[in-house]
Amino acid sequence: MSERLLEAAELSRSFQSGPRRIEVLSNLDLEVDGGESVAIVGDSGVGKSTLLHLLGGLDRPDGGTLTFRGRPLPWSDGEAMGRYRNRHVGFVFQFHHLLPEFNALENVEMPFRIGGRFERTETAAREILERLGLAERLGHTPARLSGGEQQRVAIARAVAGRPSLVLADEPTGNLDPSTGDRVFGVLRDLQKERGFSLVLATHSERMAAGCDRILHLAGGRLHPLSDSAAATFFGGSGDAE
Ligand SMILES: Nc1ncnc2c1ncn2[C@@H]1O[C@H](COP(=O)(O)OP(=O)(O)OP(=O)(O)O)[C@@H](O)[C@H]1O
Ligand SMILES: [Mg+2]
Repeated sequence: MSERLLEAAELSRSFQSGPRRIEVLSNLDLEVDGGESVAIVGDSGVGKSTLLHLLGGLDRPDGGTLTFRGRPLPWSDGEAMGRYRNRHVGFVFQFHHLLPEFNALENVEMPFRIGGRFERTETAAREILERLGLAERLGHTPARLSGGEQQRVAIARAVAGRPSLVLADEPTGNLDPSTGDRVFGVLRDLQKERGFSLVLATHSERMAAGCDRILHLAGGRLHPLSDSAAATFFGGSGDAE
């Protein structure tokens, strides 16, 4: 049995929209074990990114608790939250968010530098980029990389610091299906190799099917994916992306 890595209990998050408050997540529960992969599917605007931001400590819930390795995340302690984000979590965004003025190697080194970890930084960054087939692209800035290459750099940046939790928000959403499949394959291989847990928001049936579990976000909570919901998202045959 693997350990429980992350547990969300009765998590709520709402946003003010003009005079109205929209409740996006409402008493949401989620348990993620060490080394497992969980796909989150759901309609656009249902709150997938909101949930990933909460899990990664990038945003604070209005209610509920998030427990990491048995300890509640201390939302009001900015320094501790910074350590959580920097040491334990790797985030892959839909639109990579690489820093345009830095090359691939520097982008991957950045979280180490921000976290004050300079030891072996360049070696670790170089190793992971080579592992992802980017040995010849270390000195390229994002503008000189293809979409798939940029996304591999973003994955390298997320996993280089050996986080125990990787959160991926539609990591292949802006790639063509075959490049998307390759990028997802790389992420899954790294996961098997390094044993991190993966929580991934996706509209892709193939990607969701490649995960250990698929959960459906609807009405502010997570549900097991029913056949009818699967048919709605993935529309019978092929891939939704
Ligand atoms: N900072 C914010 N302020 C106000 N409303 C927000 C904010 N962030 C998200 N929302 C609203 O919360 C809802 C959920 O947004 P979210 O980005 O989590 O959806 P999503 O499931 O990731 O959608 P998509 O599949 O399109 O990426 C949307 O209605 C959005 O407009
Ligand atoms: Mg989103």
